[in-house]
Amino acid sequence: MAGMTISKLTKMKAAGDKIVSVTAYDASFAKLFASCGMDFMLVGDSLGNVIQGQATTLPVTVEQVAYHTEAVRRGAPDAFVMADMPFMSYTTPEQACHEAAKLMRAGANMVKLEGGEWLLETIRMLVERSVPVCAHLGLLPQSINVLGGYKVQGREQSAAENTVRQALALQQAGAQMLVLECVPTELGQLISSKLSIPVIGIGAGPHTDGQILVMHDMFGLNSDYLPKFVKNFLAEAGDLSSAVELYIKQVKDGTFPGPEHSFE
Ligand code: KIV
Ligand code: NA
Repeated sequence: MAGMTISKLTKMKAAGDKIVSVTAYDASFAKLFASCGMDFMLVGDSLGNVIQGQATTLPVTVEQVAYHTEAVRRGAPDAFVMADMPFMSYTTPEQACHEAAKLMRAGANMVKLEGGEWLLETIRMLVERSVPVCAHLGLLPQSINVLGGYKVQGREQSAAENTVRQALALQQAGAQMLVLECVPTELGQLISSKLSIPVIGIGAGPHTDGQILVMHDMFGLNSDYLPKFVKNFLAEAGDLSSAVELYIKQVKDGTFPGPEHSFE
């Protein structure tokens, strides 16, 4: 959406207006998403999977995310664009600043980092240096070798409480948005209600402040592995722009995600 800012997104949360977002990697789709009224776009390190054909996001570099951010920015000059900091690009606060600068110069409005408490100092340093930060909790694809698989996170009481604690700490450190991936509906709802910053869910149930999907999943282009939270909007809508409009409409009116796309 033209002229979207983090303060507008925060006001949408406060007003109870759902935020809708999608990943984008090139100018043509970015232009389509912007023209349909998408609230923001993410240049995700999922580009490793869907663009490069990698098994995980780990091989993705900052230079590659920057390249795709430039393309998205050209296609959607007025859009709010978030860019992922890839694996091992934010091991220290100093490195994070150095690498985030490349993404901001490429046209990002905000960067996203995966992780909890260990990122607090990094987030403070980025925010103090004028790099807006989105945190990412729940399933962390960059930690797949530690997690041992793409599984729902925060099912046990202690893990859920830990995630709530981390979300509050990340907000306190200056994060202005949170992506919550693959957690039970109840936890998605609890964290969204406890935070004042927008919580954007993917597989986190219908009660988060907004939703995000990988664009290929929205179009049913996912060949072998179909996560539960995915819906093929193209099959229902018939053409690309109608599919995008249907996704936006169903997030805005609360019909997507339904219980069949959520984890109880
Ligand atoms: O890289 C990505 O596409 C993401 C979304 C799944 C949130 O991080
Ligand atoms: Na990502």
